[in-house]
Amino acid sequence: MTSTLDRVMIFDTTLRDGEQSPGCSMTQPEKLRVAKALAELGVDIIEAGFPAASQGDWEAVNAVAREVQGPIICGLARCSRDDIELAAKALRDAERRRIHVFLATSAIHREHKLNMAKEEILRRAVEGVKIAREHCEDIEFSPEDASRTELDFLAQVVEAVIDAGATTVNIPDTVGYTVPHEFAELFRYLTKNVRNIDKARLSVHCHDDLGMAVANSLMAVVAGARQVECTINGIGERAGNCSLEEVVMALRTRETFFNAATGIQSQRLYPVSRLVSSITGMPIPRNKAIVGENAFAHESGIHQHGMLKHASTYEIMRPQDVGLARSNLVLGKHSGRHALRERIKELGFELDEAEFERVFIDFKALADIKKELFDGDIEALVLRAEGGEAGPWTLGSLRTSSSAARGQATVSLQHADGTVVERSAAGDGPVDAAFKAIESATGVTPSLQKFELRSLSEGEDAQGEAVVYVNFADRSYRGASVSTDIVESATRAFLEVINRIETSQSAKEHA
Ligand code: KIV
Ligand code: ZN
Repeated sequence: MTSTLDRVMIFDTTLRDGEQSPGCSMTQPEKLRVAKALAELGVDIIEAGFPAASQGDWEAVNAVAREVQGPIICGLARCSRDDIELAAKALRDAERRRIHVFLATSAIHREHKLNMAKEEILRRAVEGVKIAREHCEDIEFSPEDASRTELDFLAQVVEAVIDAGATTVNIPDTVGYTVPHEFAELFRYLTKNVRNIDKARLSVHCHDDLGMAVANSLMAVVAGARQVECTINGIGERAGNCSLEEVVMALRTRETFFNAATGIQSQRLYPVSRLVSSITGMPIPRNKAIVGENAFAHESGIHQHGMLKHASTYEIMRPQDVGLARSNLVLGKHSGRHALRERIKELGFELDEAEFERVFIDFKALADIKKELFDGDIEALVLRAEGGEAGPWTLGSLRTSSSAARGQATVSLQHADGTVVERSAAGDGPVDAAFKAIESATGVTPSLQKFELRSLSEGEDAQGEAVVYVNFADRSYRGASVSTDIVESATRAFLEVINRIETSQSAKEHA
């Protein structure tokens, strides 16, 4: 049977708009991990970054372009030759590439940000697209703040950039201001009033300031958009972007209503969501649609009764359709390779042999300390094993003691250059003392912003995840670690922060 559904392209911007969100910055290896996971998820386009923003961004886009096959790899650029050439160079090794140029069009941006008249905006937008076309055939243009732009001027810009060679025209609701019916009207207006609209794909890009990014994006699809820009877990500037998992599952669950389909492997949504959350440190709210812990939990007696009779009474999607394979199955120290491998597979992770062996060793070590290992424990082991080292320092040993709220800690750290440094410090409790000992050993003294602890599973011996947020040289950094010993997980999380700072400082020195 041939499908008559229209294909909606999924353009993922987790690594660009998502990463722009405060506290969500990722290292280059982390960006690569996310990009590979997005490729497996089946996204059509990965916006890997904004190459002109920094040397680090350029390198990350270049690494994704070289190493990730399948999706189109895209880089963002302002309408300037320098930006576009940097993007083109970063993308040159991609199997398939796209340059995404943007320029604000609304009166507010024209007057207060750009100080440009309409004619100049039009000229620069066309010029930007033409320069980009010198390097690449696949060009996307975004009139930033489109939803607050005069309709006739927006139509004029869209028509001109399509004539100049834009193959996708993206309509951003940059400040999350529009509402569903109004936004659908905007798309209908463009479809009716732009002479050459059939020569380009219409795309939608929504922010969630009023909590309507997904609804607005879906209404744009109803009105003709055939590309949706979104991020995993909806991370992004301010309140975030349209959430990929929500828009994809809405299209899939209500396929006959939208008459449209995506190419997303929906069973990979949950593991990718967990990966992005663990890398960025942005927690997923329990009640978050699709991937939240409670998304498929039924507490009330009436609901449970209905569910037992027939799942469709209260369930519009099956948990396994989004890759959620939670169970009460508990593993322990007598569980072997086979049981662990099966559980990891059911949780949606794919590991190569070397990664699996690393997880298995950690699993056995953890099972010696902790009687029962739950899904949360297994996930933490897998996410850690896939991660690798973040920087030059490793923790050799940690000794702590405390009495009456005073703490004492001694750490021994090994640097990648072979140096071993041991330092002791006192503080307000053992965690504070360990942080001070690390600062003294490494010479890096960031300012601590936030320290969070949460349990990953059940029981008194549950593993604790520590997350540390700091500021250093006008940038924010985050480190996380998991252990059954909370002082150890806090110490390792702080050391990860130091490693991230040192790695980014040395990248700056080599830039
Ligand atoms: O929100 C926005 O307008 C953007 C553009 C660069 C597409 O992110
Ligand atoms: Zn945006």
